[in-house]
Formats: sequence, C-alpha cells, structure tokens
Amino acid sequence: MVEIGADGRTWLLSGPTSSYGLRLGDEDELLHLHWGPRIALADAEALAAGPGPEYWAFEATLDGHEEYPVEGGPRFVRPALSVRTPDRRGTEWRFEAYESEGDELRLRFSDSGLGITLHYRMREGTDVVERWVTLSNEGPALEVLRADSATWTLPLRDGWRLSQLHGRWAAESRLVRSELTYGEKIIGSRRGHTGHQHLPWVALDADGTATEELGEVYGCALAWSGTWRIAVAQLPDARVQITGGAGYDDSGLLRLEPGETFVTPVFAGLWSDGGFGGASRAWHAYQRAYVIPDAEQDRPVLYNSWEATEFDISEEQQRALARRAAEAGVELFVVDDGWFGARTSDRAGLGDWTVNRDRFPGGLKPLSDYVHGLGMQFGIWVEPEMVNPDSELYRAHPDWVQFQPGRKRTELRNQLVLNLAREDVQEYLWEQLDALLSSAPIDYVKWDFNRCFTDAGWPGEAYPQRLWVDHVHALYKLLDRLRAAHPTVAFESCSGGGGRIDLGIMARTDQVWTSDNTDPLDRLAIQYGFSQVHPARAMAAWVTDSPNTQLNGRVSSLRFRFVSAMAGVLGVGGDLTRWTEGELAEARTWVELYKKIRPVVQGGELHRLRAPEGGLSAVQYVRDGEVVVLAWLQAQHYGEPVPPVRLRGLDPSASYECLETGEVHRGAVLLHHGLRTGLRGDLDAAVIRLRRM
Ligand code: GLA
Repeated sequence: MVEIGADGRTWLLSGPTSSYGLRLGDEDELLHLHWGPRIALADAEALAAGPGPEYWAFEATLDGHEEYPVEGGPRFVRPALSVRTPDRRGTEWRFEAYESEGDELRLRFSDSGLGITLHYRMREGTDVVERWVTLSNEGPALEVLRADSATWTLPLRDGWRLSQLHGRWAAESRLVRSELTYGEKIIGSRRGHTGHQHLPWVALDADGTATEELGEVYGCALAWSGTWRIAVAQLPDARVQITGGAGYDDSGLLRLEPGETFVTPVFAGLWSDGGFGGASRAWHAYQRAYVIPDAEQDRPVLYNSWEATEFDISEEQQRALARRAAEAGVELFVVDDGWFGARTSDRAGLGDWTVNRDRFPGGLKPLSDYVHGLGMQFGIWVEPEMVNPDSELYRAHPDWVQFQPGRKRTELRNQLVLNLAREDVQEYLWEQLDALLSSAPIDYVKWDFNRCFTDAGWPGEAYPQRLWVDHVHALYKLLDRLRAAHPTVAFESCSGGGGRIDLGIMARTDQVWTSDNTDPLDRLAIQYGFSQVHPARAMAAWVTDSPNTQLNGRVSSLRFRFVSAMAGVLGVGGDLTRWTEGELAEARTWVELYKKIRPVVQGGELHRLRAPEGGLSAVQYVRDGEVVVLAWLQAQHYGEPVPPVRLRGLDPSASYECLETGEVHRGAVLLHHGLRTGLRGDLDAAVIRLRRM
C-alpha cells in the first residue's frame, strides 16, 4: 500500500507489519523518514514536519538522511550515483513528478537531460521493499561510473551488529556476526559472478540485541548475478547506511548514449521484529511468492552421478545408475558433465554442445526414453558461458572469448569465458541450447559456471567495461528465452557449487546447487547460513558416499547423510552401483519418508531451533498443523543425556501427535520443555513428524 501526504511530498509504503517513509526537502533532496514498525500517514507527516538538514563547514547534515545520495554538493558519503560527461561530473537533480501505481511508487528526477527514476515497491502481503533505479538519457552521452540500486538508512541507535554470509569453494554461506564500527564494511564480488565469497545479503540488528526469535532485524539482498558491491557505512554521527548495486568499484559501469536507458537490479530490504528467524521466514515467503518460479510446486528427488563417475561416463553405465536410482525412489535422473563434444576431462569440449557419439551412440534420446521408462524425469548438465581452448567452438571463433589484445588469456580449470555481451555469441548459445532441448525429452538443466572473469577485455569495442553488466543481462535473457520456449524444463543454478546464488538468478531458476561440499556435517553449517535468506525449496542437497570421497574421508551413516540432505531439496549423488542391497533398501525408506515431509520442508515455515556450532543442532518446519523436526548430534560427551529440543511456532493450547511413535504431546510442553530426540553417540540424526490434533 502506498500513501501520499497532503503536500504531495511525503510518501509512505506499508506492508503487514512494517512501513517505509520518505519525503522531499525544500531543495528537492529526497530524505529518509522511517523504516520499521507500521505507522500511519499522520506519523510520517509529523516526522516530515521536523527540522530539515543544515550545513556546516566540516559535516554535511544531509549525510545519513538521503534516500539516494548522488555525487556532488554538500555530501561526503559514498555516492550511490556517480555520472560524468566530458565537461562535468556529478548530479544536481530537480524533482519532476511522482507516480503511484498499485504497490509501486516512482519518483522522477532530472538533471541536464538525464532522467533518474527511483522505484519503490512493497509486494502485496510482504514486508519486503524492492528498490531499483532507472536512468534514461535524453541529453548528451554520459558515463555512469556507479549506479547503485538503493541506499538504505537505519534509525539512529547506539550501535549495530552486522550479519553476513561468507565463504569460498566448498564452504559457502557461513554466518558471521560482528559489531559494526565507524567507517565502511564492504562485501562484494569482482569476479563476474555472484561469487562463493559472499552472498549478496546483510542483516543488521541494533546493539546486537536480536535473537533467533526476538528483536528488530534489518536485512538487504541484491538481485544480481554479476560483479557487485554492498557498502555498510557507520557515519561520524553513528548513523548507518547501506548502499549497494551492480559493479564492484566506481571506475565505470556503462555508457549511456542519447536515448538509452539503464535499469539497475533490485536491491530488496526487509524489516522484521521477529528476530533472525522471523526475518528469514519473511524472506522465504517473499521468494516463494514473488521470486522463485512455480514455487508452489515441490521439487523432485534427483540423482546426479558427478561424484560417482566424474568425467568417465557412458550410456550403459548411466543406464545402470538410473536403474538403481529408480529402485531408491528417485524422481529425476541427471547426467552431469562429460556427455558432449570431446569432454573426457576438464581439458576439452566446453563450447561444443553436441552429444559425444562414442559415449551415447544414439544421442541422448535413447537414455532419456529409458529414464522416462523407469518413471523418472531426465536432466543434463551444461556450462554455456565457457569454452575450452581445445574445442571446435574455440578453433572456429577464438575472438568470442573475453580477452585483452596482446595479453595472456588466463585459463582457470582449463577454460576461458565467452563474451556473452556479443550478440553473435548470444545467438550461438541460443541455437545450440534450443536445439539440445528439442533433441530429446529433457526435463531439467543444471547450468554451471566454473571460473571467474580475469581478462575481461573486448577488443574493438569502444567501451569494453560494459561487458561486465551486459554478460549478466545476456545470461538472464538467454535463460528467459529458453524457459519461454521450453516451459516444462526446470533449471538449476550452479557455479562450482554455490558461486551464483542471489535473487536475480533465483528468479530464473527452479533451485540452486548449494555447495560442492556434500559432507553431511559441513553441510549443516552451510545450510544454516543459506537459510538466513533463502528457502529450503531452492536448496539442493545430495546424499553421497561414505567415506566422503570429495573432501575429507569422513565416515557417516546413511541416516545422518539423509537427514542432513532432507533439510532442502533432497538428491542422491553417491555411486549407487557400489551400494549394497541393504543400503539401497534403506535409501528407499528415507526417500519415501522425504516425499511425505516434502510439502512441509519445501513450503513450510522454518524455525532454526539450534545452531550447528554446538553438538546438537535442529531445524523445524511448520505448515498447516504439520510439523517436521530434523535433528543432528555431532558427538555426545561424558555420557551426558542429549537435551530435548524446544519447538517453536506451535499452538500452546493444542496437542500434537507424533507420527513415528503415536505419542501425544501438549503444545505448551513442546514449546517450554521440549521434545526428546533419542539421539546418542556420534553423527546421529532423527526425523520427527508431529501433527496437530
Ligand atoms: C562443478 C559443479 C559440480 C559438477 C562439475 C562438473 O564443479 O559444481 O557439481 O557439475 O562442475 O564439471
């Protein structure tokens, strides 16, 4: 809901529990008024009637109050917008008009032919404010050095604690909290993709007072899958602002010729007074309602052979795995890397998206038909944005990659990055992938991205920097086009595990590959971090072999591995041909159990009951009176009894029946005294289902 003040210069957006207010100052400064609990328009107007900014010689009182600080004038904060023409730098805007349409508010400003529109949208039924900016140039050509999507202003408090999700390959999305101090904290990626190093999300709670279920939490998440930056600044007067958008630095984002328009990605913000758990549930609900395609449909249990076979694949072997997967109850069988071109190792073949006939003599269709005959869907792996120098594509078009003339072409994993900003490259990929998806009944595509940009040059192009932004737009366009042409195909975003997870890619893919780390214990921490912002509905998790072959040799039971992976979209990724009949039968019972709890896990509300750092961790999902608790014990010490886990989100006056034991528990008891999990020893795990009576 958007409300407009009587003076036409005060605006208030409200969701179910929160409001966001702003006003225009006398000099057309756009000033922040309120972000927090829901207030009335009269409250916003009272705030707007307060004193306006004053200027001193050494401080700008505009700083920390503006909705979108442009460069120039009495401002010393990091500008959200920085533009230049050959003879001028910075912006001095005039307010033009506002438009309010449905749940969106648009404020239009202009400066010498450059139109700057700030968009605000509070999606129906959510407290998430989506913000973005449109630049439309009706004046002379100009260079956009920086164009953030939004600047967020927090209320004045004594101090703030910052939560972030940091990582690296095989160790993504690990939660870290630290006290914010004066100056700037910057996270981002200068790698061309979202990166394993940080999820584009931050959360802040005042004075470090929020807990999992209580307290005010502010969060922001960026919908962009390329290079990005979020700067959290504590200003000299202790005010905190967060500014973020596409591009890592201010050295040049794009050029806007006369008549051209640029729309920034969305930077979404959320206020919650339900603690970190409440904030996560609000993010999850927003993504299920407005971001993830067809989120109301549950994702199937998949099998992927990567860890079992790596590049050494053949049709016979895939058929054998498919038979075992079908026996285990798998619903989607995915052939990973190695089915195309000369791809028998990571040294060759990327770029040649035609089937390797030595390995699949009749193409993919016979295998796909076979898999469908076993009652499963069929999926394949691709990595379209890349090329191996040893490929037909590279031999034909060595100029299609990103490179700097006269410089080395850096190979990482023996591959180069295609310049997707080029229209001929876009067209080639569209033709190849469209033909591939038309060549066999394919239901699912795992879309990978296995190296960062390094030599992002574009010889002959007047403004080569634009490839950073154009690459992402081309990727989005290609995915949108493929989805439209092949509406029954589901897509997974992968980038060496979790290197491309953000609201931008999630709007175009059905799930994401959380991490190449499939160790069930490490995964608990990775999934705990992931769940801060993204829902289980999008979080792919596989059960692989024990000992863990990829990383650490850890030995764990099938029970522990399954219960760990059941916290998201369950998959199996072990070498099923080496699993005993007993193991396969056990796997089948876990998969059957998962199918029963799946609607609650994938579509329910998540409560993180205990964090994974302690010996005992647990999560709980609730949906329409159905409750699922997943609990894991890392190691029991000194023979001490494992404490019961206190449940959340239940009706204290209701009774709940345990579907495993038939026992009846009182809601108040589960909430205040907890539920016994029966866990003991090392690496034990349990699934407990309760139903409201
Ligand atoms: C990446 C992915 C893996 C696998 C390999 C294939 O590393 O994260 O799951 O698909 O590529 O080369």
